[in-house]
Amino acid sequence: LVPQPAAGPLAGKHILVTAGPTHEPIDPVRVIANRSSGKQGFAIAAAAAQAGARVTLVAGPVSLPTPGGVTRIDVETAEQMLAAADAALPADAAILVAAVADWKVAPSPTKLKKSAGPPRLEFAPNPDILATLGRHPLRPRLLVGFAAETGDLLAQAEAKRNAKGADWIVANDVSGDVMGGGTNQVHLVTAGGDEEWDHLPKEEVGRRLVARVAEALR
Ligand code: CTP
Ligand code: CA
Repeated sequence: LVPQPAAGPLAGKHILVTAGPTHEPIDPVRVIANRSSGKQGFAIAAAAAQAGARVTLVAGPVSLPTPGGVTRIDVETAEQMLAAADAALPADAAILVAAVADWKVAPSPTKLKKSAGPPRLEFAPNPDILATLGRHPLRPRLLVGFAAETGDLLAQAEAKRNAKGADWIVANDVSGDVMGGGTNQVHLVTAGGDEEWDHLPKEEVGRRLVARVAEALR
């Protein structure tokens, strides 16, 4: 079987996607986690592969099948996710969908016992993967972040776009708790302003975003 060169609007492009939560260990059996099913990131990775891209998907702990044609790297912590994303560069575009834990703790090597009472956890900041790529010597030509917010969605999305050196932020309002569902209602926040998209299945959000990425990379 002779491998065919990929066809499609992203043929010849390498797209990096992060998805899912990260888990920061507290002890051998406990973690601090973020709420994320990974569905939106996996749908974007699937759509990018469908569009002919070479796709590296760095996935936190999720229970989802690997989309066809996607190279998946499983990680657990934010630091591992950053190392895997960094090792995947160069990429033409990076779409960072993961809900990364903002803080870690120094994990206890032995299991904390309930009988010892509630532990005092000492938090330390995790690296910011999006901001790191934003000032990376191998910065992808198109850098896309996600932001799940309560409160002033567009102002917070634009602030993050600037602070992290991202080109676009895909923002969604999670005050009604849409986490884990099959649909998403997002805004695409770019230097040109904001676009409100319809409430759509996550697969369709993935296809539309990938179409826009292909347009931007053309
Ligand atoms: N992100 C990241 N690494 C982190 C935290 C966030 O790469 N340590 C990325 C996310 O994948 C997402 C974007 O940054 O693409 C925004 O994440 P968010 O958690 O909304 O931003 P924070 O700067 O952590 O702000 P907040 O205080 O609202 O959590
Ligand atoms: Ca955060």
